[in-house]
Amino acid sequence: MNKLILTTIALAMAAPVSAQTPAPAPARPAGAAAGDAAFGARMLGPATGEQIFHRVCAACHMHDAKGAEGAGRYPALAGNRNLAVPAYPAMVVVKGLNGMPAIGQMLTDEQVADVVTYVRSNFGNKFKGKITAAEVKALR
Ligand code: HEC
Repeated sequence: MNKLILTTIALAMAAPVSAQTPAPAPARPAGAAAGDAAFGARMLGPATGEQIFHRVCAACHMHDAKGAEGAGRYPALAGNRNLAVPAYPAMVVVKGLNGMPAIGQMLTDEQVADVVTYVRSNFGNKFKGKITAAEVKALR
């Protein structure tokens, strides 16, 4: 092995570790904790139930709410009789269900109520009655 190669290897080995470590992720804003609904609401901005559906839920349930099947199984919310009683979808959003994360931890009580009402009254669903923010709060 010639001297140039040896020198190059020696220099590479001597490189400071800090040069190889990626910069740490930016800190969360002060006062924000994981599962902080206010933090989630600030990230999302003011949003209607419809906007929350398309920005958050549609990532898995698709924009037409017909769900998808592939590497995972995302049930259709369109024409879904499991949405008849509002407490059920609200509970799923707040607590999560198997493959569905507890998205509601990043939403305010009002936002959970709004998005639940939106899916219960769209996509072929015509369920009556609304869940209130106070009722969502009681589910947490
Ligand atoms: C990261 C993917 C993901 C996101 C985002 C997501 N879901 Fe889900 N959701 C799932 C999966 C997966 C299931 C199926 C869970 C199971 O049955 O095991 C599910 C199930 C549900 C169910 C139960 C359906 C039934 O027939 O029992 C409801 C209701 C629901 N989701 C509503 C929502 C709403 C409303 C949002 C947005 C606020 C949302 N989901 C966002 C993945 C997601």
